Amino acid sequence: MSCLLGIETSCDDTAAAVLRDGAVQSSIVSSQHDIHADYGGVVPELASRNHQRYIAPVVQQALAEAEVSLDALDAVAVTHGPGLPGSLLVGLSYAKALAAGRGLPLVGVNHLAGHLYSTDLAPEPPQRPYVALIVSGGHTMLVHVADTFTHRVLGQTRDDAAGEAFDKVAQLLDLGYPGGPAIDTHAAAGDPSFHDFPRTRLDAFDFSFSGLKTSVLYYLRDLGAERAAVLDAHLADVCASFQQAVVDVLVGALADAVAATGVSTITIAGGVAANSALRAAVHTLAAQRGLSVHLPPMDYCMDNAAMIAHVGALRWARGTAAPATLDIDPRLAL
Ligand code: KG4
Ligand code: ZN
Repeated sequence: MSCLLGIETSCDDTAAAVLRDGAVQSSIVSSQHDIHADYGGVVPELASRNHQRYIAPVVQQALAEAEVSLDALDAVAVTHGPGLPGSLLVGLSYAKALAAGRGLPLVGVNHLAGHLYSTDLAPEPPQRPYVALIVSGGHTMLVHVADTFTHRVLGQTRDDAAGEAFDKVAQLLDLGYPGGPAIDTHAAAGDPSFHDFPRTRLDAFDFSFSGLKTSVLYYLRDLGAERAAVLDAHLADVCASFQQAVVDVLVGALADAVAATGVSTITIAGGVAANSALRAAVHTLAAQRGLSVHLPPMDYCMDNAAMIAHVGALRWARGTAAPATLDIDPRLAL
């Protein structure tokens, strides 16, 4: 029996969740997207300030929705890295104060482990071993999971993350921030073969998305005076063509990782795992290769605290509580 509060403030979402005996009782996310939209990306100083404003009400709402009092908690799990220093500090300081004040154990959670094991929150959790594709605004990586917490990074991006590419291309197309959902929506009505954007694959399982972003920039620049007219008629086609290039690279690498490791189970996680073309392509790959595929529920693709509480519970069950000296680690590796 366990009841954990999870807290997540690594980037621009303030989130808290309650997990009881492995089941999510509440998961509250206060998004700052509207605040950062004017700037076309996350402004760290604003993110930190808004976490301070929202952390207490978000935690209170998570407890209220779960109908759990502070007395019922067994532990507090909190993201301590990787992420923006000022953002991480707010969540960790709040969690530490709460844990110290209530005499509760504190469990430090790696944000990437949160994404990696978020698929356990799907109705059918993945059997180990499996290969996971983590695709978010800050990360793009392929991970071999032999067993829980026995995982190995097979490859990762050397420059932009896949979500970052979506956000930057959306900015070029004046689609606002965050750009992934907007591109996904427009692409649904578009022709992915309208323009052939480059599909860059690096050695092993590493990725690079900065060339693709630049190629969209040059494509738009080279349209010259035609740009407005072409985008007027073909915005959906451009979005679909760009999106297809990202999906081809990701799913191609995932397929190769499956072949190299011999697993029969795959998962995708992180904000970009919400992308409809990526989800469809992963299902097609699974059908072709006879693989079992597990995607996190939509609410747990984007940053959330349910995945943090889940990993916290797994760690706590193994007796791993953090010392009071636990600090943030903005570059914490998986
Ligand atoms: O996991 P997440 O919430 O935050 C990070 O840890 O980075 O991921 C956010 C990223 C953003 O780049 C956003 O544009 C992207 O996920 N994203 C999408 C979609 N929904 C969110 N990208 C493509 N298609 C989507 N439907
Ligand atoms: Zn994330």
